Amino acid sequence: MDCEILTSPSDSRIGALSGDRSGGAAFQVDGVDFSYDGTHPVFRSLALTARPGEFVALLGPSGCGKTTLLNLLSGFLPPSSGRITIDGETVTPEMPALGYVFQSPQLFPWLDVLDNVRFGLRMTGRLRDAEQRDKAMAALALVGLEAAAGKFPHQLSGGMQQRVALARVLVLEPRLLLMDEPFAALDAITRATLNEELLRLCGRLGQTVLFITHDVEEAVFLADRVVLLDIAPAGIHSELAIDLPRPRRLRETRRLERFTTLTDTLLERISAIVAAA
Ligand SMILES: Nc1ncnc2c1ncn2[C@@H]1O[C@H](COP(=O)(O)OP(=O)(O)OP(=O)(O)O)[C@@H](O)[C@H]1O
Ligand SMILES: [Mg+2]
Repeated sequence: MDCEILTSPSDSRIGALSGDRSGGAAFQVDGVDFSYDGTHPVFRSLALTARPGEFVALLGPSGCGKTTLLNLLSGFLPPSSGRITIDGETVTPEMPALGYVFQSPQLFPWLDVLDNVRFGLRMTGRLRDAEQRDKAMAALALVGLEAAAGKFPHQLSGGMQQRVALARVLVLEPRLLLMDEPFAALDAITRATLNEELLRLCGRLGQTVLFITHDVEEAVFLADRVVLLDIAPAGIHSELAIDLPRPRRLRETRRLERFTTLTDTLLERISAIVAAA
């Protein structure tokens, strides 16, 4: 099972990943309008910011624009008007500060795990082979998968594949992680393990995270702040600060009365959005 191969990565290994770009980036979405076809707006005057190192979860009904917002933030889609910046710079897809994790792992089946993780470093062509290997092994250690370096994607479970996808992004030392329902396709136990792993990694590396999910409990467990999107093109419905203590462990955190209050508040707000649609 996935949990059996989880290890505590040694500090010396992780050291290979502590470059200048460590820590989190601030982002700012300011007065953004966006429509795919010029006639049906997805966003009107959207405004959203995150401070360095903040974990923001994005919730909202299907079709409200969550993935679109991630694509705007990653620079893949240009806004019709308004501005999106990361640490004050207008965003572009080439920004090294950005890492994108999708719902499916999208690994290259013909490459082994190590080469999948090395792929992005190879593309940049800035490091020698041995340095690429060290960084890739450090990223695999972060996700507890050093022992799987020589395996191919088809030899891994879904949870392990998603960990490799995370390592492939972490190896590039992004300061902003954009995650679009990354654990949605996984079983509940693997998902719980990966939620705890993600929090451990973020505590250690300090990236800013924007995390899309449909799961209210997952959002509350992970986030510092939950942003709720309304039916398009209304934009942000409301925000909720998640004032639960850290470090968080799933079993303990879910038992807290405050956890129940926060999830109930969000569920009520989502019901109101759906009822008004
Ligand atoms: N490539 C595209 N071309 C045209 N319209 C699109 C495109 N991608 C998304 N849309 C439309 O934009 C709106 C927002 O879509 P988006 O994928 O961002 O929603 P979402 O909140 O991520 O939904 P889900 O929760 O189902 O993933 C929807 O009305 C969708 O139909
Ligand atoms: Mg989506």
